[in-house]
Amino acid sequence: MKRVAFLTSGGDCQALNATMRGVAKTLYNADPDIEIYGILEGYKGLMYENYIKMKPSDFSGILTEGGTILGSSRQPFKNMRKPDANGMDKVLAMVNTYKKMKLDCLVILGGNGTQKSANMLREEGLNVVSLPKTIDNDIWGSDMTFGFQSAVDIATTAIDCIHTTAYSHGRVFIVEVMGHKVGWLTLHAGIAGGADVILLPEIPYDIDAVVAAIQRRTEAGKRFSILAVAEGAISKEDAALTKKEMKAKLKNNPYPSVSYKIGAEIEERTGQEIRITVPGHTQRGGSPCAYDRVIASRLGAAAAQLILKEKYGYMVGFKNDEIVPVPLEEVAGKLKMVDPDSSIIKEAKSLGISFGDER
Ligand code: F6P
Repeated sequence: MKRVAFLTSGGDCQALNATMRGVAKTLYNADPDIEIYGILEGYKGLMYENYIKMKPSDFSGILTEGGTILGSSRQPFKNMRKPDANGMDKVLAMVNTYKKMKLDCLVILGGNGTQKSANMLREEGLNVVSLPKTIDNDIWGSDMTFGFQSAVDIATTAIDCIHTTAYSHGRVFIVEVMGHKVGWLTLHAGIAGGADVILLPEIPYDIDAVVAAIQRRTEAGKRFSILAVAEGAISKEDAALTKKEMKAKLKNNPYPSVSYKIGAEIEERTGQEIRITVPGHTQRGGSPCAYDRVIASRLGAAAAQLILKEKYGYMVGFKNDEIVPVPLEEVAGKLKMVDPDSSIIKEAKSLGISFGDER
């Protein structure tokens, strides 16, 4: 009889529950005697032996539920090897909990940091199967992550709603979209929402190019402009700074986020009224969209097949709509970023969208 435990770690997103349901249903169908456990609040639960025994009914009715029924927490990879406040070795504690629970496999759902820690546990000798979770869609080894499309829908709705007010009042609006390191969410929501300017971490902007794009619209008789700006958008000037220089600069930064800085700079240069909207964590909330429910179910079923075949040490990912097991050591520590020379950027530019990089 197999004993398997689920763990959800890092920022939550839509379809975490749908994915666990997919794994559990497939496992119970193949082996009704299988024992499934839920580790609570991510890696923290594994460190401090906080878990529950689950039953098939726990996975009923959760396909449409956002968040995670197990709870989550952020346990940065860089702190994993540091002892906790009481001097406890966290990695050793996690390995011990796994052994005490007599687990055959740990099923880990998470983003980039989570995948790194999953790989670390694999290196420590644990059987691990992981799944790609994040609204950022930045996990290396998978074309798509669950949560992304639901977040795109929410961010797009935010831009859609802003459109009517921007048009009525003739204003420049900035919608700040989640994504500190990568811009997939901003790029997709920006295109879907008809944004005029899209600023991504991968394409440092020149504020004069951004202003020029707005002015071109004004000259063409357009009453408004909408900018979709990623949380991690960065100016060309700041991108040229070292980490240390940037840290020093941020100490005197009066703005709550990059959008406010960009807004102030545009207002100063154009005299136009700027408004800023930050949908924030609404982008991670609510029910998963139909697309995410489908990929969550497929990824879940595929992860269960790996467990049944005792093929451990893999993340299940998507490649050209086919599910592929990707070795965890290949996934760990890499980011899937937007390529500034990719076809989607070229197509967006041909539509007249400015990325703030060309005047
Ligand atoms: O990784 C998902 C994400 O929502 C990012 O897009 C965002 O930058 C970050 O998490 C926010 O983290 P937190 O929920 O810890 O504020």
